[in-house]
Parts: sequence; C-alpha cells; structure tokens
Amino acid sequence: MSAESKSFYLTTPIYYVNDAPHIGHAYTTVAGDVLTRWHRQRGESVWFLTGTDEHGQKVLNTAGANGTSPQEWCDRLVEEAWKPVWSSLNIAYDDFIRTTEPRHMERVQRFLTGLKEQGHIYAGKYEGPYCVGCEEFKLPGDLDEGRCKVHGTPVEMVSEENWFFRLSAFVPQLLEHYKDHPEACEPASARNEVIAFLESGVQDLSISRSSFDWGIPVPWDLKQVIYVWFDALLNYATAVGLGDPVDSEGGKKFARTWPADVHLVGKDILRFHAVIWPAMLMAAELPLPKKVFAHGWLLVGGEKMSKSKLTGIAPADITDHFGVDAFRYYFLRAIPFGSDGSFSWEDMAARYTSELANDFGNLASRLIAMIEKYCDGAIPALAHDATLEAALATASAHADTAIVALDFQGGINAIMDFCKRVNGYVTEQEPWVLAKDPSNKAALDAVLYNTAEAIRALAVLLHPVMPATTETLWSSLGADLTLGPIGAQSIGKVAQWGQLPAGSKVTKGAVLFPRLEEKAD
Ligand code: ME8
Ligand code: MG
Repeated sequence: MSAESKSFYLTTPIYYVNDAPHIGHAYTTVAGDVLTRWHRQRGESVWFLTGTDEHGQKVLNTAGANGTSPQEWCDRLVEEAWKPVWSSLNIAYDDFIRTTEPRHMERVQRFLTGLKEQGHIYAGKYEGPYCVGCEEFKLPGDLDEGRCKVHGTPVEMVSEENWFFRLSAFVPQLLEHYKDHPEACEPASARNEVIAFLESGVQDLSISRSSFDWGIPVPWDLKQVIYVWFDALLNYATAVGLGDPVDSEGGKKFARTWPADVHLVGKDILRFHAVIWPAMLMAAELPLPKKVFAHGWLLVGGEKMSKSKLTGIAPADITDHFGVDAFRYYFLRAIPFGSDGSFSWEDMAARYTSELANDFGNLASRLIAMIEKYCDGAIPALAHDATLEAALATASAHADTAIVALDFQGGINAIMDFCKRVNGYVTEQEPWVLAKDPSNKAALDAVLYNTAEAIRALAVLLHPVMPATTETLWSSLGADLTLGPIGAQSIGKVAQWGQLPAGSKVTKGAVLFPRLEEKAD
C-alpha cells in the first residue's frame, strides 16, 4: 500500500480525567480496538486515536477537591489510570492525544482565529443554566425542577459576556447532509434523533467562558477560555495536523488521514458530534467525517452506569475473574452495537463457559492432544472437506460484512457458528474411533488436518477480538513459525484452505479459557 493512500481513521471520545476509567469507557475503546485490528488484518493502513479531555470546570473542580493543580491531577490520572488500563486491555492505539498538549492548544487557537476572520464568531451575552457534569449549556426542556436530567444534580446559572459561534446558520446544510448521507450518522435511531433536534430549531453556541481559567485562552481575548467541548471536538483533527502547511509533516499527515472514517461515541454525546462538530468543519470548509456511530449505554440497575452515580465498575473487577479476552469478547458478543445492555455476572459466566471454554477452548485443546497422540505432534498431510470449506467461506464473508458495518454481534456470531460446525464435524467423524484401527490412518489424518485448518481460520478471525488468546493458540499450532505472526494474517484470504503446512509441530500450550473459580463475594 503506498504511503499516499488514505488511512482508515477511527477515533474514540477523549474521556474526562475526573476519575479512572470504568467499563463504559472500556466498551467504546475495546470496540474501536477490535474494529481497527479487523481493518488492519484486511490489509488497510489504519490510524486509531484515543485520548483525554482535560480542560473545563469538571476537571478543575475535581483537582481542587483533591487538593492539586488541574495539570498535576491530569498528569497523574493519565499516567496512573488511563494509559495503564488501556494497556492492560491490549488496546493498540496509534496515538493518544491530551488536550493540554501544545500540539493541540496551538492548532485550536489557529482554527478559532480562522473562524473569527471568516465571520463565524461574534460577541454576545450568555444567560442560562449550565450543567458541569455534562459541561453543557442547557435548555429549559433539559431540566427537571432545576436539576440536570442526566446527572440529577442542580445546574449553575451562568451570566457572562462570551464569544458565540453561528451554529444556527448551518442547520439547513446539516439537514441536507444527513439526507444525502444517511450513513454519516448511525444507527438510524441516532440519525432520527439528530434530525428531529435540528428541525426543532437550534440556537447559536457560546464557545467561551470567562468565570474560570482552566482552558485554552481565546487568542484575541485572553480573559476568556475556549468552551471545553469546542476545544475537545477539535482533538480529532488537531491530532493529525489540522491547519499545518500542506508540505509539512502535519500537513501530509492530515492529507493521509482526514476525514475520519468513524467517530465512535456513546449516545450521551451524540449531538455534540453530529451537530456542533460537523458545523464547525463546515464553517472551516473542511471535509466532514464519514460516520458518527453512537452506541448504547451499559446499564446498572436499569440506569446508565456512571462515575457520578457511583455505579461505575472498573474493568479489573471483571478481568481479574474472567481474563482480558473474555472481557473484550463479552460486551460485543452480548449487546447489539447501538442498543443499551445490562451487565450481568451470571450471563457473562454462562457465555464464558459455553462459548469460550467449551466451544472454542476445548475444541483447540482436543485437536492438539489428538495430533500429539495419533500423529507424533506433526500436522498431517493436506486434506479437504467440501462442507467445512464452504461453511468457512460463508462465515468469513458474513463476519467481514458485519464487522465493517459495526455489527460486532453479527460478526462474532458468524464466527462462533462456524466454531459449532467444526465441533459438529469432530463429533460426527469420531477420530478416536478411527484411531482404533490402523487401516483408517488416512481417514484419521484427514479429519485432523481439516479440524486444524478450521481452527487456524478461527484463530485468525477471532484475533481482533481476543488478541492474546489467539496468539497462544497460533503458536501451539506452530503457525507463527510457518505462516508468520497472527496479526499479519489476512481476513480476505482466511478461507483459502490448506495453509497449515504438513509436518509442522504442534505443542500443548496453556489452557485458553481456564475453569472459573467460584466468585468470592
Ligand atoms: O463525554 N455505557 O467524556 P466522558 C456505555 N470528554 N458507554 C459509556 C458509559 C456507559 N454507561 N459511560 C461512559 C465525555 N461511556 C467528553 C467527550 S469527545 C470530543 C469528548 C463512554 O468521560 C461512551 O463512549 O463522559 C461515552 O460517550 C463516553 O464514555 C463519555 O465519556
Ligand atoms: Mg460523561
């Protein structure tokens, strides 16, 4: 692939560093990691961005409550909480942007100056409610007896001379955009919500604050800082060189990367991404992101899990018991992407045992054990099974279509259905019966070869979801020595039968999905 080709560019939200990550943040970030790993295995060049949102009142107040400066607080949380959690979950991001970095702040200021020069910014007075939890100016309909409907906390009344962005001017163009490009906002329920909001009448947006100073200074009015959402949304473009001269490093990066292919967000922040952000880009005459995808909420007790309501569950609470790969698998497998879903310990334990330990893990360990016992640990000669090969071709094509469309559940189901087929094949062929009579040696070898090939394909297809486990399996098949690293295996070629070379040695590795310990309460 040439250096000039456009990368598949995916972003997660940049998360507030008022606390450590919980499984809601991990849900989005794992989904982004699975999708980018999938695209890499399709042979595409990929850029995967995540990061942290560090300005604004919420972070400022949290730092104050903890007796530190906001910068020290952010540095500590990023280094001690956010980055370590992503690394423990095997998140292979290409870049991590922090909004307090100079590379971001300078480009934000330059962007804002450009909008002002083009007449998109004017001075005005903002009077109205503000929710610090949402970092959002609220409309009367967003409140319930003076409290934010999302956080249940009282709103602040703000009265400030601020700078405004002519957001309302872009409403007709935004409506046109979603009519022409329905795929630019998904799922359809999210798009309908955005269209209804746009049709209900949108006001201009205050984009600066003057009552505190933890933010990026407005370049022409240093008494004001830029509104945290205006600052934060720009991360997606500043991280890849927004506004840099075309022949500079940043300019070249921007040309290779922008526009984003997918902004992955939770539905809580849909409007910011599907209304304000594209309007900002329209004002700057920049290409719009190809897709904003708003997934649903993880619920606890029927409510959105959150830090502020103390319902946040840390990823380690789950990975300590089930392992990292089962965590990565479970949420994408169990919840249709785009719908809300409840986390249940019992459901996770049931799927772990039936789908991961029994269907997948046992299949692999039985195969390795049989090759050791009946074939001296060497992969037997190439064989074929038309039914199995056809099932693999269908499953891999189906999985690819689904996952590229962000239907993770559909994609994983297609792969796991194939896994069941392979189990069925082994049960029908009864290799342990064939092994009793030496005259059946050729038939036995064929069954074991076919099973090994099917497991080779399962490892490749499940690698984006469960990178560590499938790597263990890959080396016990001896495939790392003969076919190269698992991450380099192409999704497009996974169904080509006969890749495992005869004679390569298998080794019994660690149990992929150990039996669960009783949960200690
Ligand atoms: O909103 N279920 O940051 P944030 C599913 N800084 N996903 C959840 C979730 C839940 N219960 N809770 C959180 C911000 N998330 C801004 C974003 S982007 C320019 C700025 C995930 O720390 C989900 O992706 O509140 C949601 O949109 C995001 O975390 C909000 O993270
Ligand atoms: Mg939030």
